[in-house]
Amino acid sequence: MIGSPYVATEGRDRVRRVVCPGSFDPVTNGHLDIISRAALLHDEVLVVVGANQSKHGLFTVEERVEMLRDVTSGLKNVEVGTFRGLLVDFCRVNGVQAIVKGLRAVSDFEYEMEMAQMNYRLAEVETLFIAANPVYSFLRSSLVKEICRYGGDVKSLVPEVVFERLQERLGSPDHGASSGL
Ligand code: PNS
Repeated sequence: MIGSPYVATEGRDRVRRVVCPGSFDPVTNGHLDIISRAALLHDEVLVVVGANQSKHGLFTVEERVEMLRDVTSGLKNVEVGTFRGLLVDFCRVNGVQAIVKGLRAVSDFEYEMEMAQMNYRLAEVETLFIAANPVYSFLRSSLVKEICRYGGDVKSLVPEVVFERLQERLGSPDHGASSGL
Protein backbone atom coordinates (compact mmCIF):
# COMPACT_ATOMS: atom_id res chain seq x y z
CA MET A 1 0.00 0.00 0.00
CA ILE A 2 1.25 3.44 -0.81
CA GLY A 3 1.39 5.73 2.23
CA SER A 4 0.29 9.34 2.36
CA PRO A 5 2.62 11.53 0.38
CA TYR A 6 5.04 13.52 2.46
CA VAL A 7 4.16 17.19 2.32
CA ALA A 8 6.69 19.71 3.49
CA THR A 9 4.87 22.27 5.57
CA GLU A 10 7.63 23.98 7.47
CA GLY A 11 7.94 27.60 6.47
CA ARG A 12 4.84 27.49 4.30
CA ASP A 13 3.46 30.74 5.67
CA ARG A 14 6.69 32.64 5.32
CA VAL A 15 7.32 35.22 2.64
CA ARG A 16 9.03 33.54 -0.26
CA ARG A 17 11.97 35.84 -0.72
CA VAL A 18 14.63 35.10 -3.33
CA VAL A 19 17.75 36.84 -4.51
CA CYS A 20 18.94 37.46 -8.08
CA PRO A 21 22.65 38.23 -7.71
CA GLY A 22 25.04 39.37 -10.41
CA SER A 23 27.55 41.88 -11.68
CA PHE A 24 24.97 43.64 -13.87
CA ASP A 25 27.64 45.70 -15.65
CA PRO A 26 25.25 46.72 -17.13
CA VAL A 27 21.81 45.05 -16.83
CA THR A 28 20.68 43.55 -20.16
CA ASN A 29 17.31 42.48 -21.54
CA GLY A 30 18.37 38.93 -20.66
CA HIS A 31 18.74 39.84 -16.98
CA LEU A 32 15.40 41.61 -17.08
CA ASP A 33 13.77 38.49 -18.52
CA ILE A 34 15.00 36.40 -15.56
CA ILE A 35 14.18 39.07 -12.93
CA SER A 36 10.64 39.60 -14.19
CA ARG A 37 9.96 35.85 -14.38
CA ALA A 38 11.33 35.40 -10.84
CA ALA A 39 9.00 38.20 -9.72
CA LEU A 40 6.02 36.26 -11.08
CA LEU A 41 7.01 33.16 -9.10
CA HIS A 42 8.03 34.61 -5.73
CA ASP A 43 6.70 37.09 -3.18
CA GLU A 44 9.82 39.23 -3.06
CA VAL A 45 12.84 39.40 -5.33
CA LEU A 46 16.02 41.11 -4.15
CA VAL A 47 18.24 42.01 -7.09
CA VAL A 48 21.74 42.55 -5.75
CA VAL A 49 24.92 43.79 -7.36
CA GLY A 50 28.03 42.05 -6.06
CA ALA A 51 30.40 44.77 -4.85
CA ASN A 52 33.46 42.62 -4.11
CA GLN A 53 35.35 43.48 -7.31
CA SER A 54 33.72 46.76 -8.20
CA LYS A 55 36.83 48.48 -9.55
CA HIS A 56 37.04 46.51 -12.79
CA GLY A 57 33.63 47.41 -14.18
CA LEU A 58 32.60 49.88 -16.86
CA PHE A 59 29.97 51.25 -14.48
CA THR A 60 30.31 51.85 -10.76
CA VAL A 61 28.22 49.74 -8.44
CA GLU A 62 26.04 52.81 -7.73
CA GLU A 63 25.44 53.35 -11.46
CA ARG A 64 24.51 49.70 -11.94
CA VAL A 65 22.06 49.94 -9.05
CA GLU A 66 20.53 53.12 -10.51
CA MET A 67 19.99 51.45 -13.88
CA LEU A 68 18.53 48.34 -12.25
CA ARG A 69 16.14 50.46 -10.16
CA ASP A 70 15.07 52.30 -13.25
CA VAL A 71 14.37 49.22 -15.36
CA THR A 72 12.61 47.29 -12.57
CA SER A 73 10.49 50.21 -11.34
CA GLY A 74 7.36 48.59 -12.80
CA LEU A 75 7.89 45.38 -10.82
CA LYS A 76 6.39 46.07 -7.42
CA ASN A 77 7.89 43.09 -5.59
CA VAL A 78 11.44 43.74 -6.78
CA GLU A 79 14.01 45.57 -4.65
CA VAL A 80 17.51 46.49 -5.78
CA GLY A 81 20.63 46.70 -3.61
CA THR A 82 24.23 45.58 -3.23
CA PHE A 83 26.11 42.97 -1.26
CA ARG A 84 29.69 42.36 -0.21
CA GLY A 85 31.31 39.16 0.97
CA LEU A 86 29.64 35.80 0.59
CA LEU A 87 26.24 35.56 -1.03
CA VAL A 88 25.15 32.93 1.49
CA ASP A 89 25.80 35.41 4.32
CA PHE A 90 23.61 37.96 2.55
CA CYS A 91 20.90 35.27 2.28
CA ARG A 92 21.12 34.40 5.97
CA VAL A 93 21.00 38.01 7.18
CA ASN A 94 18.12 38.92 4.85
CA GLY A 95 15.97 35.81 5.28
CA VAL A 96 16.37 34.77 1.65
CA GLN A 97 15.13 31.26 0.87
CA ALA A 98 16.79 30.73 -2.48
CA ILE A 99 19.12 32.13 -5.12
CA VAL A 100 17.64 32.49 -8.60
CA LYS A 101 19.96 32.34 -11.62
CA GLY A 102 19.34 32.28 -15.34
CA LEU A 103 20.83 29.53 -17.48
CA ARG A 104 21.48 30.63 -21.04
CA ALA A 105 23.18 27.61 -22.50
CA VAL A 106 25.13 24.47 -21.58
CA SER A 107 28.21 26.68 -21.32
CA ASP A 108 26.72 28.34 -18.22
CA PHE A 109 25.94 25.06 -16.59
CA GLU A 110 29.29 23.99 -15.18
CA TYR A 111 30.05 27.34 -13.52
CA GLU A 112 26.54 27.80 -12.18
CA MET A 113 26.32 24.21 -10.93
CA GLU A 114 29.62 24.63 -9.08
CA MET A 115 28.41 27.81 -7.35
CA ALA A 116 25.02 26.28 -6.55
CA GLN A 117 26.59 23.21 -4.97
CA MET A 118 29.13 25.29 -3.04
CA ASN A 119 26.42 27.64 -1.74
CA TYR A 120 24.40 24.64 -0.59
CA ARG A 121 27.46 23.10 1.01
CA LEU A 122 28.32 26.38 2.78
CA ALA A 123 24.91 27.22 4.21
CA GLU A 124 22.23 24.94 2.70
CA VAL A 125 21.00 27.80 0.53
CA GLU A 126 19.14 26.43 -2.51
CA THR A 127 19.64 27.68 -6.06
CA LEU A 128 16.79 27.73 -8.58
CA PHE A 129 17.53 27.98 -12.29
CA ILE A 130 15.33 29.67 -14.85
CA ALA A 131 15.98 28.67 -18.45
CA ALA A 132 16.70 31.86 -20.36
CA ASN A 133 14.44 32.87 -23.19
CA PRO A 134 16.28 31.53 -26.28
CA VAL A 135 16.07 35.03 -27.75
CA TYR A 136 18.70 36.01 -25.16
CA SER A 137 20.81 32.85 -25.04
CA PHE A 138 23.81 34.62 -26.61
CA LEU A 139 23.48 37.78 -24.54
CA ARG A 140 25.97 38.83 -21.88
CA SER A 141 27.04 42.22 -20.57
CA SER A 142 30.67 41.87 -21.65
CA LEU A 143 29.65 41.25 -25.27
CA VAL A 144 27.26 44.20 -25.21
CA LYS A 145 30.09 46.48 -24.04
CA GLU A 146 32.48 45.19 -26.67
CA ILE A 147 29.98 45.54 -29.51
CA CYS A 148 29.05 49.03 -28.36
CA ARG A 149 32.71 50.07 -28.04
CA TYR A 150 33.34 49.21 -31.68
CA GLY A 151 30.23 50.83 -33.07
CA GLY A 152 27.88 47.82 -33.27
CA ASP A 153 24.17 48.19 -32.62
CA VAL A 154 23.09 47.05 -29.15
CA LYS A 155 19.79 48.92 -29.01
CA SER A 156 17.67 45.77 -29.01
CA LEU A 157 19.82 44.03 -26.37
CA VAL A 158 19.50 46.43 -23.44
CA PRO A 159 16.79 48.66 -21.95
CA GLU A 160 16.63 52.21 -23.37
CA VAL A 161 18.15 53.83 -20.27
CA VAL A 162 21.10 51.44 -20.39
CA PHE A 163 21.60 52.10 -24.09
CA GLU A 164 21.84 55.83 -23.38
CA ARG A 165 24.34 55.30 -20.55
CA LEU A 166 26.46 53.05 -22.76
CA GLN A 167 26.56 55.73 -25.45
CA GLU A 168 27.58 58.35 -22.89
CA ARG A 169 30.24 56.16 -21.30
CA LEU A 170 31.81 54.70 -24.42
CA GLY A 171 31.61 57.92 -26.39
CA SER A 172 31.27 58.13 -30.09
CA PRO A 173 31.61 54.64 -31.49
CA ASP A 174 34.70 53.59 -33.40
CA HIS A 175 32.90 52.48 -36.58
CA GLY A 176 34.38 50.12 -39.08
CA ALA A 177 37.14 47.57 -38.93
CA SER A 178 40.74 48.41 -39.59
CA SER A 179 43.27 45.76 -40.50
CA GLY A 180 46.60 47.30 -39.60
CA LEU A 181 48.02 45.88 -42.83
O1 PNS B 1 27.03 38.18 -12.93
P1 PNS B 1 28.07 37.27 -12.35
O2 PNS B 1 29.46 37.85 -12.57
O3 PNS B 1 27.95 35.85 -12.84
O4 PNS B 1 27.82 37.25 -10.76
C1 PNS B 1 28.60 36.44 -9.94
C2 PNS B 1 28.20 36.60 -8.45
C3 PNS B 1 28.34 38.03 -8.00
C4 PNS B 1 26.77 36.13 -8.29
C5 PNS B 1 29.16 35.64 -7.68
O5 PNS B 1 30.50 35.93 -8.02
C6 PNS B 1 28.98 35.71 -6.18
O6 PNS B 1 28.04 35.19 -5.65
N1 PNS B 1 29.92 36.41 -5.51
C7 PNS B 1 29.90 36.61 -4.08
C8 PNS B 1 31.01 35.87 -3.38
C9 PNS B 1 30.60 34.44 -3.09
O7 PNS B 1 29.63 34.18 -2.39
N2 PNS B 1 31.39 33.51 -3.63
C10 PNS B 1 31.18 32.10 -3.48
C11 PNS B 1 30.30 31.56 -4.56
S1 PNS B 1 30.13 29.82 -4.40
